[in-house]
Amino acid sequence: MSTTPSVIYLKDYQVPPFLIESTQLRFELEDDRTLVKAELRLTRNPECQVKPRGLLMHGDESLRLCRLAVDGQVLTAKDYSIDAGALTIAEVPDQFILESVVEIDPAKNTALEGLYLSDGVYCTQCEAEGFRRITYYLDRPDVMSVFTTTVVADKARFPVLLSNGNPVAEGDDSDGRHWVTWEDPFPKPAYLFALVAGDLKHIEDTFTTASGKQVALRLFAEEKDLDKLDHAMTSLKASMRWDEQVYGREYDLEIYMIVAVDFFNMGAMENKGLNVFNTSCVLASQKTTTDAGFQRVEAVVAHEYFHNWSGNRVTCRDWFQLSLKEGFTVFRDAEFSADMNSRTVKRVEDVQLLRTAQFSEDAGPMAHPVRPASFIEISNFYTMTVYEKGAEVVRMIHTLLGPDQFRAGSDLYFERHDGQAVTTDDFVAAMEAASGRDLTQFKRWYSQAGTPVLDITDEYDPSESVYRLRVKQACPPTPEASEKAPFHIPLQVGLLSPEGTDMPLENDATTVTLELTESEQTFTFTGIPQKPVPSLLRGFSAPVKLNYAYSQAELVFLMQHDSDGFNRWEAAQKLGVIILQALIADYQAGRELVLSDALVGAYRAVLNDTTLDPAMVAKVLTLPSQAYLGELSTQIDVDAIHAAREFAMNALACALEAEFSQAYKRCLIDVAYQPSAEQVAQRMLKNLCLSYLLRAGKPEYLALAQQQFSDADNMTDEQAALALVVHSNYQDAAQAMLSQFYSRWSQESLVVNSWLAVQASNPCPGALSQVEALMQHEAFNMKNPNKVRSLIGVFCGQNPVNFHAKDGSGYRFLADQVVALNELNPQIASRLVAPLTKWKRYDETRQQLMRDQLQRIMDSAELSRDVYEVVSKSI
Ligand code: BES
Ligand code: ZN
Repeated sequence: MSTTPSVIYLKDYQVPPFLIESTQLRFELEDDRTLVKAELRLTRNPECQVKPRGLLMHGDESLRLCRLAVDGQVLTAKDYSIDAGALTIAEVPDQFILESVVEIDPAKNTALEGLYLSDGVYCTQCEAEGFRRITYYLDRPDVMSVFTTTVVADKARFPVLLSNGNPVAEGDDSDGRHWVTWEDPFPKPAYLFALVAGDLKHIEDTFTTASGKQVALRLFAEEKDLDKLDHAMTSLKASMRWDEQVYGREYDLEIYMIVAVDFFNMGAMENKGLNVFNTSCVLASQKTTTDAGFQRVEAVVAHEYFHNWSGNRVTCRDWFQLSLKEGFTVFRDAEFSADMNSRTVKRVEDVQLLRTAQFSEDAGPMAHPVRPASFIEISNFYTMTVYEKGAEVVRMIHTLLGPDQFRAGSDLYFERHDGQAVTTDDFVAAMEAASGRDLTQFKRWYSQAGTPVLDITDEYDPSESVYRLRVKQACPPTPEASEKAPFHIPLQVGLLSPEGTDMPLENDATTVTLELTESEQTFTFTGIPQKPVPSLLRGFSAPVKLNYAYSQAELVFLMQHDSDGFNRWEAAQKLGVIILQALIADYQAGRELVLSDALVGAYRAVLNDTTLDPAMVAKVLTLPSQAYLGELSTQIDVDAIHAAREFAMNALACALEAEFSQAYKRCLIDVAYQPSAEQVAQRMLKNLCLSYLLRAGKPEYLALAQQQFSDADNMTDEQAALALVVHSNYQDAAQAMLSQFYSRWSQESLVVNSWLAVQASNPCPGALSQVEALMQHEAFNMKNPNKVRSLIGVFCGQNPVNFHAKDGSGYRFLADQVVALNELNPQIASRLVAPLTKWKRYDETRQQLMRDQLQRIMDSAELSRDVYEVVSKSI
């Protein structure tokens, strides 16, 4: 790194000195270069106090400037200067046309930001700051412009030419090239610009909006994948209807397009009218896609569609406001998925993600508030905190206001700010105005990092029939602040009678929302006839850690009786945590491990209750994850946690073999495959049963898994059987299945990814050498982020026992890959390094080994800003 990268602060925000009223672009795509011609109508921003004489435009070093003119006058070298990331024109009028021609080289673009080639298809990724790799521009979200884009390319090789908005003209040139012009009437920031050119095929449908407007829906992919677009189309139409019904939001252009590309840094991108999707988030078919994959497609399609209002029509003023669009849109897509499938299952899955990935981020060196105060590289802030915690913050507003006032608040927000670039404060202000509530203290959720901890005790006074909950809140220090002011926390609570029924509380409600605002508060419930068992934090009403000294018996009671489905699961998790923590301590002390009867009994009762949703049974019967148990420990003992979980699962398998076997049979499906909530639930429980049965150690269960693997008519069952056997002790059978699976699916890139991932996450010894060998396999490609994530990412993030091997081999491996990827694709390199940054949580030997590797990365030549920021902040 030649110079230390500079830090950008929210407090330094200034309005742009110039605005861009219109943007006309012409792309000439050629093999060895691409010409980008831009014609921008610029004008001084009336809202800007200062009147600089010159103009500063963003532009990456890779741009080669061929021509620059102001109002038709060509500028010469003395009129402007170009240095690191910017073009400065010394003097400009108040209003003028700026013309530029630059040459770029998409074929050499391995960072996958700006214009690049994905398997022969030209495509763009401009969020957050990729547009400056395409042309000189005011590449900031508060500069919104209408775009007209013409794309010119060879007709035979690139028959499809797309950009944002509506197609308005097209033609053929005499040299075998053709062109299409697109116009997007909605002003947008450059980060929402998109262009696609390639040999793509599409499926088509139409959608009629609530007000009767016809919208054409076109989903594009390579011809071989055309049969995998139906689920995305169904999901798109469902999302469009849902946003009308739940938020009153209609689509606004005549056409909505989605393009599937195989090389993509993220999941998908909401470019106006032209979403670009990672193939992994849009393609789905029974044979090649798991149930989880189907649900992912549905959620991502919805997410990007919902951005049309929460992100595009109303966008962010600056990148510190990222959660304004991402947190809100994740909340919206989560509610959509909850409505389409099982609400409780969706909530459990989201909380599992938050508690492992977000809580650990909040406890690490990269911890930051939902609205960060500073950054070096914005790409590093597309985080669990901005997304998942940001969504929880919106959910808490929804809980505090109730659905009707929340809807009034969102209506007001969209109405007030349509066509504007705004802040999270503007969002909260609309919620306040519509509800009459004061959310001043609540806004600390946006400015303070860290996970609050609630310590709750209670007392019951039978003579007065009074029950009291005493709640203390505290938040540990994080890099940006050591002292935290109290948060405004909605704590949803119910009280269970000894018979297991909900006691009527205020206004006969069975759940009340307690509002915590101070560091210590007592809440009094009157008219409580018997000592209740409290059901605390129902629905996970706030992103906090909660301590209350439940007995094992109380947890078993809540598992059976709580009317809140989420808390029934939560009680099982808490029971699992208590029992596993004891086993971990036993393992560390060298004592014999013995499984508690309480757990076996509770599991048996759930397994035999055929009235329950099988998906919830599967969730309840899944022990707290390795990651969650680590997150709960002061010092993470990877081997002890693994050993305790393995022991408990094996013991449960033996104790409940008959029940698992029966449940497996009950869940067999004899009707045609559908990724419906009902079938998904049955397969989930069936495959959970299979996982336990394989641990019972009888050859007949290996045969059962092998049979499921060969007979499956869907990828969920096929892949579950494969993963279970590969991760088991049956290594010969595993090898046979792996090679069979590869030869069956070698032509399906996404299925091959799961083949890589199954091997990368194998907890058995030798996984690292297997991963290293796979890096040489024809199926691997270091330039394709999906391959990197499936192999390297999964090994380092989902194979704790092998990644944290005591000899440091896992750490060394990761550092090597980060150094290699730093040059190819800084965003991917920077995301991959995360596991090393958590070094403080491990024992001293591992701490030292991990830090040595971080230092090695730090010392390597020419670090990208992305990797520099993460590594320097964590050393
Ligand atoms: N706007 C993002 C995509 C993005 C993020 C582009 C960072 C460039 C840099 C998009 O809306 C998004 O959030 N996608 C998620 C999936 C979504 C379901 C949370 C993704 O890509 O993972
Ligand atoms: Zn998003």
